[in-house]
Amino acid sequence: MSDKGEAKFLFNPYMDWIEGQGVPVVEGFGIDLLAVETAPWGRLDANGAVVHLKGRGDFISIFIVDIPPGGKSAPQQHLYEEVIYVLAGHGSTTIETGDGAMHSFEWGPKSLFALPLNAKYQHFNASGREPARLASTNDLCLVLNLFHNADFVFNNKAEFADRQGKSNYFSGEGDFIPKKPGRHMWETNFIPDLAGFELQSWDQRGAGSSNMKFILADGTMHAHSSEMPVGTYKKAHRHGADFHVYSVTGSGYSLFWYEDDTDFERIDWRHGVVFAPPDGMYHQHYNTAAQPSRYLAVALGNLRYPFTTAKRNIFAGVDVSVKDGGAQIEYEDQDPRVHEIYLAELAKNGVGSVMGEYIDERNLKKKSA
Ligand SMILES: [Fe+2]
Repeated sequence: MSDKGEAKFLFNPYMDWIEGQGVPVVEGFGIDLLAVETAPWGRLDANGAVVHLKGRGDFISIFIVDIPPGGKSAPQQHLYEEVIYVLAGHGSTTIETGDGAMHSFEWGPKSLFALPLNAKYQHFNASGREPARLASTNDLCLVLNLFHNADFVFNNKAEFADRQGKSNYFSGEGDFIPKKPGRHMWETNFIPDLAGFELQSWDQRGAGSSNMKFILADGTMHAHSSEMPVGTYKKAHRHGADFHVYSVTGSGYSLFWYEDDTDFERIDWRHGVVFAPPDGMYHQHYNTAAQPSRYLAVALGNLRYPFTTAKRNIFAGVDVSVKDGGAQIEYEDQDPRVHEIYLAELAKNGVGSVMGEYIDERNLKKKSA
């Protein structure tokens, strides 16, 4: 029986916990995280908000955490994983791992780091003038819905020595684990500047595309970064829910559609915007900036620990044509309208297309006539 004396029925322990936090909950297909209003979050001794994207799935969601100028968050320890992307501000995080060792690193806009499972940590704002805004993608909804016991999740002394990684993982160093295009991995706990991180080419995903998969704090949560050169767009594909896509550099838009749709949903993006393609919905990313556009994607289940069979399959076949049983629409098979839309958007920005190197643009125009 619940506190209200009513039998629990179709109950969601995570949502019940969120409601009890008293912070704003923002829902949408795509959200500008820099524009979200926050409110005091007692647990953190900082301001915060919760972001639930339409395509978030059942396993992860986003918390926004604001650290005030000269301020710090309350010390935290919890039995869920957290991948933090710095939206704004400069500061540092201290982490005490299970062996009692203290680690500290300094972050700035576009830093990415993970908190090792159940490590003690605290965030500090290094500026006396500017607030800092962090986006935490985390799997609390998975963990709380599984155990439905907040005390177990937030007051648990279990140690996970295998999650902390090498000590230089906290200072921005890491290990490159070569596999094959689109599956190369970089293992670390901290990436100081995701905007400048060296990616590896992945031609099968489209025109000049590059990518790196990250293994962070030996966690089950996934992160990767991809980049599109100027004047290009990637091939469309589809997969299950929960890939939270953050714009990192450049600007552009993405189109979304289900197989039998006659029109597209559209999200315009730039730094601060996040979206999550819903389950099974095709999506395609277009760079309209005069610079390369790069994004970060965070999900549950990675190349080391896929967690679900669906994730294992998508990591294997994400760049295989749907005609061959995969998830990707090759350029020659795409709806010709998407290319026309792209050329019109580029023209507005005065940027030239280089897609002619990858597709027969005259043939596409003929098909749409
Ligand atoms: Fe995708």
